Amino acid sequence: MKKTVLITGASSGFGKLAAKTFHEKGWNVIATMRSPEKETELTELESLLVTRLDVTDNTSVRNAVAEGVEKFGTIDVLVNNAGYGGHALFEQFTDEAIRAMYETNVFGVMNVSREVLPVMRKQKDGTIINITSAVGYIGPPATSIYTSTKHAIEGLTESMALEYKPLNIKIKAIAPGAFGTNFIASTFNEDASRGDEEVKSHTQKILTHFEALVGQMMQQGGKEANPQDVADLIYRCATEEMPVHNIVGADAEMIVGMKNSMPHQDFLEKLEEMVMPKM
Ligand SMILES: NC(=O)c1ccc[n+]([C@@H]2O[C@H](COP(=O)([O-])OP(=O)(O)OC[C@H]3O[C@@H](n4cnc5c(N)ncnc54)[C@H](OP(=O)(O)O)[C@@H]3O)[C@@H](O)[C@H]2O)c1
Repeated sequence: MKKTVLITGASSGFGKLAAKTFHEKGWNVIATMRSPEKETELTELESLLVTRLDVTDNTSVRNAVAEGVEKFGTIDVLVNNAGYGGHALFEQFTDEAIRAMYETNVFGVMNVSREVLPVMRKQKDGTIINITSAVGYIGPPATSIYTSTKHAIEGLTESMALEYKPLNIKIKAIAPGAFGTNFIASTFNEDASRGDEEVKSHTQKILTHFEALVGQMMQQGGKEANPQDVADLIYRCATEEMPVHNIVGADAEMIVGMKNSMPHQDFLEKLEEMVMPKM
C-alpha cells in the first residue's frame, strides 16, 4: 500500500527537496507550509497535498493533520523540518526573539508530533524524523539560542525513541552541517546590531570570523554541500533501519567525530582554537 509522509516547512530548502524525493519514490506527500498560496511547483504534482501549517499555531496543525488523514487515510512518517536560526551574542537576543525561536524550533516539533502520534499509535506503526543540526552536538559562538533549541530536540528525540519503541514508532534525528539553503543567509539577521558598543564590537569580531568559517564549511571536499544529501537521508530514515542519531555533511561528520574521539574538555579547547578569532 502507498505510504504517506507529512513534512513541515516544505516551502523551501530540505523540506521542499524531501517532498519531491518522497513523491518521486511513489509516496503520498502532505507538503505543509505557512503560505501555501505562494507555492507553484509542488501544487502541480499528483498524490501531493499542499496545505497550510504553521508549527506555532495549533489550530493549523490540527487542520493540516486532519486534512492529510482525510485525503490519504493515514500518516506513516512525519518530518519535523521547519526551523530557523540566528547569529548574535546571547545578550543581543530579546526575550521575545528567544521565545519566538523556541516556539518554532522546539514547541513546534512538539505540537506537530503530539497531533500525529495518535494516528501512528492507531496503526501501530510510524516514524518521526526531527531535523536538528550539527550544533545540536556542539556549542559554537554567536549562535547560542539556536544551538540550545537543537540540543533540546536531540534530547527529546533520544528519550522519545525509547518511549515509543515498544509501540513500534521510531523516532530519529538528522543533524545536518552547513548547506546553502535559504537558512544560511536568514541566520545573519539584525539581532547582531543590538546592544552597547562593547557587545556590538565583540559580536562583530566573532561573526566576521564565523561567517568565513561557515563559507568554508559549505565547501565540503572542494565542492558545494548538496542539500539533496539531506533529503536522501530523510528518505533513508523513513524506509531503512537507521540509528536514532544521524549526521549529514562532511563538516558535521568531522566535528562530531572529533568530539566523540576525545575527552569533552579537550574537544572544547580544540573547538575554541577553530571557531574563535584572536581577541
Ligand atoms: N541549511 C543548513 O545549513 C542547516 C543546517 C542544520 C540544520 N538545518 C535545519 O534544517 C531545517 C530546514 O532548514 P533549511 O536549511 O531547509 O532552510 P530554509 O530553506 O530556510 O527552510 C526553512 C523552512 O522552515 C519553514 N518555517 C519557519 N518557521 C516556520 C513555522 N513557524 N511553521 C512552519 N514552517 C516554518 C520556512 O517556511 P517559510 O517559507 O514560511 O519561511 C521554510 O520552509 C531547519 O530546522 C534548520 O534549522 C539547516
